[in-house]
Amino acid sequence: MKYELIHNLRLPKIGFGTWTIGGESHADPSQDARSTAALCSALELGYTHFDTAEYYAAGHAEELLGRAVRASRVARADLFITSKVSAEHLEFSDVLRACEGSLRRLGMDYIDLYLIHWPTRGMKLPDTFRALNQLVAQGKIHHLGVSNFNLKLLEEAVILSETKLLTDQVPYSLPDREYEKNGVLAYCQANDILLTAYSPVKRRYISGNNPLKELARQRGLTPQQLALAWLVRQPRVITIPISFNPQHQADNLAAAEIELTDSELAQFLKF
Ligand SMILES: NC(=O)c1ccc[n+]([C@@H]2O[C@H](COP(=O)([O-])OP(=O)(O)OC[C@H]3O[C@@H](n4cnc5c(N)ncnc54)[C@H](OP(=O)(O)O)[C@@H]3O)[C@@H](O)[C@H]2O)c1
Repeated sequence: MKYELIHNLRLPKIGFGTWTIGGESHADPSQDARSTAALCSALELGYTHFDTAEYYAAGHAEELLGRAVRASRVARADLFITSKVSAEHLEFSDVLRACEGSLRRLGMDYIDLYLIHWPTRGMKLPDTFRALNQLVAQGKIHHLGVSNFNLKLLEEAVILSETKLLTDQVPYSLPDREYEKNGVLAYCQANDILLTAYSPVKRRYISGNNPLKELARQRGLTPQQLALAWLVRQPRVITIPISFNPQHQADNLAAAEIELTDSELAQFLKF
């Protein structure tokens, strides 16, 4: 695994997402066995960064993640858990309540990284950060970040956070370069902030990119691995793919090791 060294942290370039673990916007207990199996195999394979949110399966993803961690042989201190406060909970007391809910569902006494999941039009960011800074001071949260923040909002968040803001988690993949174009990536790289790329695996795009598929065939890799390798070769970029399939999980972890030459990159980037 390759790592990002940042603010005295060593964060793996590739972590594990949990959207659809335990359901989608509602808890779906019929998915528990499949979800638990996915989390257990991810822990077993050596994933250490898990990304979840109070929104995922209405909190049930956090519950299943907490249970899987307790059932595993991995020590809590060796893991890095990210969760997120939902857009409807950005008022001061709602943030504090939301964090308590996440801690309770995870069965943990701290969350490594806590993000504002989505900005809203009417949000009062100073109030939200007053609550987030308080949670950091109390030791319930170790690091703060944001998600889906454009450059202007990210700059505001950087000023309001009393600890160094760790990340902006945004969609970023070969076919989705919005956060490269809008300046967020360059700002993160210039200011020691991680860009956490979500939705990094775009199956439909990948299946249509013949040069990517051909290079994967030549290298004995999968096109999905090349897509992840392209992301994490970029400074300050980490990513959090999810897979229920243990072979895909292993492939995704291994993608962090892949080196790409300039001519290989040129082959599939021109697509
Ligand atoms: N902050 C936000 O607003 C936000 C929004 C979206 C997502 N996220 C986070 O980012 C995480 C990842 O994004 P995502 O859930 O949108 O999707 P993703 O990780 O880009 O894609 C997941 C899909 O790709 C497939 N897949 C994964 N690895 C593969 C491989 N090596 N080969 C073939 N197929 C593969 C999976 O199928 P199999 O199960 O069959 O492998 C699954 O259908 C989420 O789980 C969540 O934690 C955050």
